[in-house]
Amino acid sequence: QSPASPPRADGFQAVGTVADLDKNGQIFNEKFAGNKVLIVRDPKNTSQVLAVNPVCTHAGCDVGWKKDENSFVCPCHGSKFAADGKVINGPADKPIPTYTAKVEGDEVLVKA
Ligand code: FES
Repeated sequence: QSPASPPRADGFQAVGTVADLDKNGQIFNEKFAGNKVLIVRDPKNTSQVLAVNPVCTHAGCDVGWKKDENSFVCPCHGSKFAADGKVINGPADKPIPTYTAKVEGDEVLVKA
C-alpha cells in the first residue's frame, strides 16, 4: 500500500499512482483523512476515477471492487454497492460514502 502524502492547499491528497491503480485494478489506502479509501476506474468513463470509503455499512468489513459486476462487494455477508455507493443488495441498508477523486499526471488524488 502507498503512503498518503499530506493534503494539498486545494484539499486533494495523493493516495497512489496511476500505475498502482492499473496494476491492481484498485488502490486501497488506509491513511486518507483518518479513514480508509478505495479508488477504482469509473466503469462509465475509464479516464475518470471513483473513490469510496470501503467500510461496509453492515458490520464494517472492507468491500472490494468486482470489475465484472461494476460494483463493490462485501466479502463478509455479500452486501453489494453500486459505483456511486448506493446499496444494490443487503444486508447493508445504508450507502458507503463517496469522495471526489481525480487523476493528475501519474497521481491519483482524493478530497475528503
Ligand atoms: Fe458487509 Fe456484513 S459486513 S455485508
